[in-house]
This record gives sequence, C-alpha cells and structure tokens, in this order.
Amino acid sequence: MFESFYGFTQTPFARDIPTEQLYSSIMLEETLGRLEYAASRQLFAVVTGDCGTGKTTTIRRFKDMLDSARFHVMYLADSKLTPRHFYKGLLEQLGAESKFYRGDAKRQLHREVELMRGIHRLQIVVIIDEAHLLDREMLEEVRFLLNFKMDAQSPMALILVYFWTLYLSCNNGDLDTFDDELFEGKPHSGDSFVAVPPPAAQPADHEVIGGRDV
Ligand SMILES: Nc1ncnc2c1ncn2[C@@H]1O[C@H](COP(=O)(O)OP(=O)(O)OP(=O)(O)O)[C@@H](O)[C@H]1O
Ligand SMILES: [Mg+2]
Repeated sequence: MFESFYGFTQTPFARDIPTEQLYSSIMLEETLGRLEYAASRQLFAVVTGDCGTGKTTTIRRFKDMLDSARFHVMYLADSKLTPRHFYKGLLEQLGAESKFYRGDAKRQLHREVELMRGIHRLQIVVIIDEAHLLDREMLEEVRFLLNFKMDAQSPMALILVYFWTLYLSCNNGDLDTFDDELFEGKPHSGDSFVAVPPPAAQPADHEVIGGRDV
C-alpha cells in the first residue's frame, strides 16, 4: 500500500533485497574491500555495529561478490552454538559427515580444509554471525581453529559478526579471548566496523581499518 503511495518499486528494509540492488555507499564498498582483503590473505576479521546497521546484509553482499572458483564460504548463525555443533555445521557445509567426538571432528575439519585448499585450490572463509551469543568456551574453540602448523599458517579466513556486546565485554575484561589491541580503533555507536589484524608473522604490529556510516 505505502509502496505505491511513495512510488517504491519494492518494500524497503526487507530481508530479501537482492544484493546487487542494495544501496551502495562508499563506505559499504570500502567495508567489502576490507573483507575481501581478509579473505584473500586468510586473516581473522571482525564486523561489529549496532542492531540493524546492516552487518548481515553486508556479509550477504560479500558472499555474493566473492569468486566461487577461488573461495568457499561457510556461514553459521546459531544462538546455541557448541563446539560439537560448530564442527558439525562446518563439515556439513563441506559435504562431510561429522565424527561424533569434538577432537575427532576438529581433526576431520582440518583434513577437509586441507583437501579443499590442496586439491580444489579453494580458500576457505568461515563467517560466524551473531557471535555475541557465543559463550566463552565457544570463543576459545574458534580461536584455536586458527592455530594450524604451530600457528605458522592460517587454514582459513575467519570473520566474526556481532552486536556490540562482545566488544564491550572484552573491553571490560570479562573476556580476554581477543587481543585488546584489535579494538584500539573502537567504533562509535551507530557505525559498523571492520578490524583486520595482520598475519601471525607480524604479531607486534596491527592494523585497524574500517568504520562505516549507516
Ligand atoms: N546497503 C543496504 N541497502 C539497502 N538496505 C539495506 C542495506 N543494508 C541493510 N539494509 C536493510 O537493513 C535491514 C537490517 O539490516 P541487517 O539485518 O543486515 O542488520 P544487522 O546489523 O545484521 O542487524 P542485527 O544486529 O539485528 O543482526 C535489512 O533487512 C535491509 O533491508
Ligand atoms: Mg544481523
């Protein structure tokens, strides 16, 4: 009804807007560029911002723009994600049936990822949305996922997408899972934000990039 009144061709703020029809601001493009940087260099990145600022929509656009011949994207959003379900979810997306025990499933995931990288020449990108709902055990598990070949290699790009609370709880010292320095360039309320640390080879350095008007 109001669509025709205002001359809209479709309802705004719907969840199913095709990604090529999204409003494209300079900052959205910049955020996507930075996420692509994280994907191609297999880094850990975070996207954070207030409720409804377009975090998931940005990720949807990001997934669509990645070259499927180069990247294999896996997306998880689960409020009750446990380590076992985490590995099961990722293995299912790789077309494998997960082993029952967590340790076995973890080794299985590393093997499958190695096959994807070695045989299919695909870079893995894991996106965990609503990551503020993850508990401490799950956050630690996610962190160790990136520990590969004695920390000398990252087997995948890992992108955590979350509402502010994870940042706030990290900053208050309730969680020490993430390096505080990662959040040095903390966002202001109303912004979405992307931080990409450098590869493990340069631990002393870090780069915080991002900031997105919404
Ligand atoms: N670039 C865009 N162009 C047009 N509409 C957009 C754009 N980004 C977001 N939206 C609209 O805003 C709505 C809310 O965005 P989205 O669900 O991605 O926010 P969010 O930050 O993930 O929210 P939450 O914190 O609740 O998970 C979307 O349903 C979409 O309709
Ligand atoms: Mg969302």
